[in-house]
Amino acid sequence: MTDSALLSPDLRLDADWWRQAVVYQVYPRSFADSNADGIGDIAGVTSRIGYLAGLGVDAIWLSPFYPSALADGGYDVADYRNVAPELGTLDDFDAMVAAAHAVGIKVVVDIVPNHTSDLHPWFAEALASAPGSAARNRYIFRDGLGENGEQPPSDWISHFGGPAWTRLPSVDGVGGQWYCHLFAPEQPDLNWDNPEVREDFKTTLRFWADRGVDGYRVDVAHALAKDLSWPLRSKPTLEDEGVPLDGTDPLYDRNEVHEIYAEWREVFNSYDPPRTAVAEAYAPSERRALYARPTGLGQAFNFDLLKADYDATAFHDVITFCLNEAEKTGSSSTWVLSNHDVVRHATRYGLPAGTDYDEWLMTDGMQPAVDVAQGLRRARAATLLMLALPGSSYLYQGEELGLHEVADIPREALQDPIWLRTENTKKGRDGCRVPLPWDSAGHSFGFGSGPAHLPQPAGFSGTAVAAQRGRAESTLETYSEALRLRRQLQTVEELSWVETGRDDVLHFVRPGGWHCVSNFGTEPVALADGVVRLSSAPLVDGMLPGETTVWLTEWPVD
Ligand code: NOJ
Ligand code: CA
Repeated sequence: MTDSALLSPDLRLDADWWRQAVVYQVYPRSFADSNADGIGDIAGVTSRIGYLAGLGVDAIWLSPFYPSALADGGYDVADYRNVAPELGTLDDFDAMVAAAHAVGIKVVVDIVPNHTSDLHPWFAEALASAPGSAARNRYIFRDGLGENGEQPPSDWISHFGGPAWTRLPSVDGVGGQWYCHLFAPEQPDLNWDNPEVREDFKTTLRFWADRGVDGYRVDVAHALAKDLSWPLRSKPTLEDEGVPLDGTDPLYDRNEVHEIYAEWREVFNSYDPPRTAVAEAYAPSERRALYARPTGLGQAFNFDLLKADYDATAFHDVITFCLNEAEKTGSSSTWVLSNHDVVRHATRYGLPAGTDYDEWLMTDGMQPAVDVAQGLRRARAATLLMLALPGSSYLYQGEELGLHEVADIPREALQDPIWLRTENTKKGRDGCRVPLPWDSAGHSFGFGSGPAHLPQPAGFSGTAVAAQRGRAESTLETYSEALRLRRQLQTVEELSWVETGRDDVLHFVRPGGWHCVSNFGTEPVALADGVVRLSSAPLVDGMLPGETTVWLTEWPVD
């Protein structure tokens, strides 16, 4: 904790703006479509900056908007220093940054360094070049095993299913080499042992910083450094299975990865204010702090809250652990309940604990049935609790509307590579990427004036922005009020737990007397003394009902 953690609205402009920011994730293709082609775009984001300012977010993080064949929703980047033509131009991007900055909103862009698109000029050059060439050495090409090289060079597996290796076709009767891709075959992994790769990404970081970007979200930050010594070491599991704590796994969370981020930090600190970064690092929790060091990326996502059941003990333990971890490094904690990769939290909380979401999606969301009202009630309670915690909260577009997962997208409309790569046994992540409803009626519910690139459900009519605006207890107005109050009450990055005498009720207080009480159970609980500032559902006879969170202050605040 530092003095500058004592925030006032003016301090949002200082170098520590990120420490307790509310960052709103925009999935650009599904946010707002300005030209009726069914695809959200940069001008669409600009047109909704007023909405975001009204909501009260401190920053927006844009998922990739770069040229891409969309083999993985844009996380297959063909040109890191440009805007996809269907999303706009660099001028549109500059206009969006200017509009955001004009209302005090910072802009964070997604950097995807583990892999490029197979349409990236480097990969085209690699394919046209001989084995062992400099062009191939930007990626991870190897000869296959077996008599004719017909077996992959190692047992590594792809996150989207199947082997993490694809073989090139034979040329003149000579079998092709294999290239590594930890994700889709259209996402070849880069070779981070290659200095040219390292330099090029620093150029990309500077490119966006020079355009006024304030920070970066770093995709798959834990996988860049790999042990590529031959023979390649066996690793038949994904990262969250048995990665050792000493940084020696062949693929994930290797110690050397931090050399890369130390170099990036020099780039960040060459700007005033220094650029910020947050790692998407699926490292063992104990090692997440390494990514969040001030000499590294500075902050790391933790998905512990997102993975926790809706349960007071689970939340308490996650919060305590994460705050301790953040303090160890001098970083601040991050909190996330939803993003573009997971079933929306309103839906998760309406399903029985332990539900396998992949299986549930395959039933089009029918088995088990979602308790829609309970899911939303819990989601609102969990969100209010999260927003009272010290550190930064990352919100995902549409959660402020209480959107549920769209589990019944027709199979022929699915876009996620997971659907194809698993031979149609897992549907993937499209259900949380459905274009936002802005209006209750009309073309694509106001997403644009044409169709939407993923079908929207009829129920969007009632959850649209227009349907919630001005309705005091709507989810949208509750989020707006929470963000307004949070800014007013924000304080040093600390909390103290207050004994509640109940296992299913959590109570903490932030310095200055900002109390948060969350009842995870079903029995109402009497409230501590204080002025009720906001609650996720109406109080009943002055009591805090089940599955509800309330914020109290020890004195009235204007
Ligand atoms: C994590 C991103 O959040 C996800 O959407 C993507 O598929 C993978 N990284 C690969 O880039
Ligand atoms: Ca468009």
